[in-house]
Amino acid sequence: MMPVLESKVALVTGAGRGIGRAIAERLARDGASLIIVEIDGKTAMESSAAINKDGGTATPLAIDVAGEHSGDEAIAFATSTYGGIDILVNNAGIAPNRRVLDTTLEEWERVLRVNLTGTFLFCKAAAPVMAKRGGGRIVNIASISGQRGGTGRGAYGTSKAGMLMLTRIMAVEFAPENIAVNAIAPGPIRTDITDHSEGTVSSYLDRIPMRRYGTTGAIAAAVAYLVSPECDFTTGVTLNVDGGFDSTGLIFSQDDLRASDPE
Ligand SMILES: NC(=O)c1ccc[n+]([C@@H]2O[C@H](COP(=O)([O-])OP(=O)(O)OC[C@H]3O[C@@H](n4cnc5c(N)ncnc54)[C@H](O)[C@@H]3O)[C@@H](O)[C@H]2O)c1
Repeated sequence: MMPVLESKVALVTGAGRGIGRAIAERLARDGASLIIVEIDGKTAMESSAAINKDGGTATPLAIDVAGEHSGDEAIAFATSTYGGIDILVNNAGIAPNRRVLDTTLEEWERVLRVNLTGTFLFCKAAAPVMAKRGGGRIVNIASISGQRGGTGRGAYGTSKAGMLMLTRIMAVEFAPENIAVNAIAPGPIRTDITDHSEGTVSSYLDRIPMRRYGTTGAIAAAVAYLVSPECDFTTGVTLNVDGGFDSTGLIFSQDDLRASDPE
C-alpha cells in the first residue's frame, strides 16, 4: 500500500530533538519528504541522518525561527530542495518557567518572538506556496499552558494562547485556499524540557485523570492524523493530547467516593 503522505513535502521546526523529532520521524514513515528546521545545526543533522538511514527522506536546515526572514528562507529552501511545501508543523519553542515579576523584558520578547512570531512568520511564508499547489496543512504545537493559568507561565502561556487564537484566525482566512490550520495542546510529555521535580510531577498527576505523562509518539500520532487525507473537514480546532487535563475539575479520592455510597 502507498504511504499516505507519498509525494508530500513537510517542514517541521524544532525537529532536532524531543517532540519535533518524533513528529518528523512519523511523517517521514508516512511517506513525506522532510525539512528539519533547527536552531541547533548538530541535532538537525542527526535527526535528518536518522530518517535517511531509516529509508526516509530528510534535509536539515539550521536556522532560528525568530529571524525576520527565516520563514521566507526556509520555505524557499523547501521549494529549491523538494519543489514546494504541503505540510508545516510549527513546533520550535522555548519554555522558561518564571514568575511574571521575575521576567525581564528581554526574556518576555524572546519567548513571544520564538513561539508566536516564529509561527506567524513561517505560516505567512508557507501559505501562498501551499495555495499555489492546491492547498496544505498547518499544525501549531501549542500547550495546555496556553489554556489555563499556572505559575511561571507568564511569557510561555501567553505565547501559546496567542498561537491558539492565530490558529483560528488563519483557519478562517486560509480556508478558501484549501489550507487547514489546526493546533495541538500537549499536556506534560517526557522530553528534555520536562525534567520536573517530584513536587511538580505530583502537581501535574493530581490534575491528569490518566495519571501519567504522555509520550512524544502520542503527539506525533495526533499530527499524523491532522495532516492525513482522512482528516478532511477539520480546521481551526485545538486537539488536546493531555491525558484528560482539559476536562478535569475535582478528582475525589476513591475513599471519599466510597464513603458517600448509599449503605
Ligand atoms: N514537553 C512538554 O511537556 C510540552 C508540553 C506542551 C507543549 N510543548 C511544546 O512542544 C514543543 C516541543 O517541545 P519539546 O518538549 O520537544 O522541547 P525541546 O526543548 O526538547 O525541543 C525544542 C526544539 O526546538 C528547538 N528550538 C528552540 N528555539 C528555536 C528557534 N528559535 N529556532 C529553531 N529551533 C528552535 C530546540 O533547539 C529544540 O531542538 C515546544 O513548542 C513546547 O512548548 C511541550
